Amino acid sequence: MKFISSCICLPMSSSFTILAIFVAFASIAMVAPPVEAARAFFVFGDSLVDNGNNNYLATTARADSPPYGIDYPTRRPTGRFSNGFNIPDLISQELGAESTLPYLSPELRGDKLLVGANFASAGIGILNDTGVQFANIIRISQQLEYFRQYQGRVSALIGEEETQRLVNGALVLIVLGGNDFVNNYFFTPVTLRRLQYNLQDYSKFLISEYKKILLRLYDLGARRVLVTGTGPLGCVPAELATRSTNGQCAVEPLRAAAIYNPLLVQMLGGLNQELGSDIFVGVNTMEMQNNFISNPQGFGFITSKVACCGQGPYNGVGICTAASNLCPNRELYAFWDPFHPTEKANKIIVQTIFTGSDKYMSPMNLSTIMALDSMT
Ligand SMILES: *[C@@H]1O[C@H](CO)[C@@H](O)[C@H](O)[C@H]1NC(C)=O
Ligand SMILES: *[C@@H]1O[C@H](CO)[C@@H](O)[C@H](O)[C@H]1NC(C)=O
Repeated sequence: MKFISSCICLPMSSSFTILAIFVAFASIAMVAPPVEAARAFFVFGDSLVDNGNNNYLATTARADSPPYGIDYPTRRPTGRFSNGFNIPDLISQELGAESTLPYLSPELRGDKLLVGANFASAGIGILNDTGVQFANIIRISQQLEYFRQYQGRVSALIGEEETQRLVNGALVLIVLGGNDFVNNYFFTPVTLRRLQYNLQDYSKFLISEYKKILLRLYDLGARRVLVTGTGPLGCVPAELATRSTNGQCAVEPLRAAAIYNPLLVQMLGGLNQELGSDIFVGVNTMEMQNNFISNPQGFGFITSKVACCGQGPYNGVGICTAASNLCPNRELYAFWDPFHPTEKANKIIVQTIFTGSDKYMSPMNLSTIMALDSMT
C-alpha cells in the first residue's frame, strides 16, 4: 500500500509547482486587461508635506538629523518633519502606492517618475517673502516650474498624450498658508506685513495670491486637488511657549486661522464654479486638529500641548534636536516637535480626509472622490 500510494503521488514540491503554474495561468486569463497601477500623486507645499527636498538645499529648515525619523521604517531621518510617516506617505498608502520621492532626489527617474513626485519644501508660503529667514527654499512658483519640468521628463518616457493622461488623472495635495502667518506676519512683534495689513486684509491678500497659484496648477493639468486650510495656529506647542500666558491657545494666531480658513473655502468654491467642475477640495485641518486638541484623551493622547521633542515650556522653544527632551512613546503625543504633528496625529488627519463628513471636507471626502473617479 505504502509503495503504491507514494508511486501515484508527486513529491510535495512539484505538485506545488504545478498548482502554482496553474493558478498563475488562470489569473493571467482572468485579469486581462491588466490591473491599472495606482493613480499618480503630486505634492506641493511646506514642511507639513516636505519629504526630503530640503535635504538637498543649503537651508536651516531641515529635518535630516536624529531624532527625526525615529519611528520611520528605517529608524533614520529622511527630511520628513515627523517621527515617522507624514501626511503624503499615509495618503499614498491608502492609494495603494509607494511614497512619492522628493523631486530633488536622484532616485526619481525611470519608472519611479510614474508614481508622481513631491515638490514640497519646508519653510515656504503663499508669498515669496515668507520664509526668507530660511535662506534657500523652493518657493511655490519654483515648485510649479519643477512640475512643468517633470512633465517634460515623463513625456520623454511615455509620450505627451500618456503624460497628460497621467497628470489629469492624478491626485494632488497642496499645503500652504501656515508659514505666511507663523513665519511672516507673526514672526517678530513688528513685521512689514503687519504694518501693511490688518489680519482681515492680510488674509484676503493671501487668498487672492493663492488663487493665482491654484489656477497655475490647473493650467499645468491638475484636476483633483486637495487644498488644506491652516491648522489652529495658536495651539501648537511653539505658540503656547512663546505667545500664551496660561496654556490657552494664543489668541491672535487663532483669530488669523478663524479669518483665513472660511475665506479659503469660499475661494475654492468660487474657483470650482468658474471652472465648472469640482477640481479643488477643501480640507478643514483646523476642525480636524481641534478635535484632538480639545479632547486629546479621546484619541489616545496624554497631551496635545506638550511636544514630544523640544525644550522649554511645552517643549515648544527652538527646534527638535538630538539634545532635546524626547518622549519615550510617540503614540501618546499629538505634536512631535513644536510645530508638526506626530505620525499618530497624521493618521487621524488622513483618516478624516478619506472618510470625513462635509464638516471636514468640502465639497466631499476622498473616498467619494475615488469612487467618482473610478467610474469615469
Ligand atoms: C514670486 O517670485 C517669482 C520668481 O521670482 C515670480 O515669478 C513671481 O511673480 C513672484 N510672485 C509674486 C506674487 O510677486
Ligand atoms: C464620505 O462623505 C460622504 C458624503 O458626505 C458620506 O456619506 C460618507 O459616509 C463619507 N465616508 C465615506 C467612507 O465615504
